[in-house]
Amino acid sequence: MSDEQHEGPSGDGGPAGPTSVEGPVGEPSLPPEVERRAARWIGFALAVSMLAAIGLFVSYVLGNQVQVQGVLLALALGGIAMALIMWAKKLFVPEVVTEERGDHPAGERELEAVAAAAAPGGEAIARRPFLARMLGGAAGLLGLSVLLPVVRSLGPSPGRSLFTTDWSRGALLVDEFSRPLKASDLEIGSVATVFPQGFVGSESSMAIVLRVPQGLLNLPDGRDADAPDGVVCYSKLCTHAGCPVGLYEKLYYQLQCPCHFSAFDVLNGAEPVFGPAPRPLPQLPIEIDDAGYLRAKGGFTATPGPGFWNRGSGP
Ligand code: FES
Repeated sequence: MSDEQHEGPSGDGGPAGPTSVEGPVGEPSLPPEVERRAARWIGFALAVSMLAAIGLFVSYVLGNQVQVQGVLLALALGGIAMALIMWAKKLFVPEVVTEERGDHPAGERELEAVAAAAAPGGEAIARRPFLARMLGGAAGLLGLSVLLPVVRSLGPSPGRSLFTTDWSRGALLVDEFSRPLKASDLEIGSVATVFPQGFVGSESSMAIVLRVPQGLLNLPDGRDADAPDGVVCYSKLCTHAGCPVGLYEKLYYQLQCPCHFSAFDVLNGAEPVFGPAPRPLPQLPIEIDDAGYLRAKGGFTATPGPGFWNRGSGP
């Protein structure tokens, strides 16, 4: 930073105080023509940015190629960047000038000279709010065009579908080949993945059915009646992060999730006994019909899946 001291012009009221100039020494203000030209270029860059942002918005709505969107995004960002660079380099006077205040009674000629000198500055002052508004508009349009892909990428609202499954009263339990399952198909220690008939592959309805010695069952809330002959059925979605609970340790009557090793006590309402799962696997109440087939008595006892789904009402 340089620092110069020099005497100001003498006036009627005596000598002026010293003038201090800080920063690079240059023209004390920009010539009006330079300022006008810079403002035009800045306005042009911002206009390009705004048009590109609008184009980006439209392009995303129409589902155009991503290459086109990339070019438009580059123009929108580049226009703002160029405008800011030109603004900083062309419209800001680099030096800082201070002067000690003396006794300066101004004559008529001096007042006229000051008014004449201030006139172009007034024009520039009027120009800058306009540029500032253009800058705000360009930034706003760019934000809008970037927000749209984010909002659209969220996809359709799931509504209540996350809280319901395809199980209903009387639904047959079928395996992945749509074959109805009989209670007699299950021996003690065997397990099978089941779906409601007509909904094979439905993730939220996926369940695991197994048979245990009936006398060992100790299900909560009197739900033993929903596990006839020791055949008990639970949701197969882990309540930790939704992985399929695909392992059965029959020695300990535990269902285990291979993702983070949560273990669920089959005899005790699938209470978690190890790992990060926060709550039991929901039970599917079942019955055996006259032909020996397994049927659902209704939906799961709670919303299946990770803990988030437990925040609303059950199915
Ligand atoms: S998803 Fe099952 S333990 Fe994490």
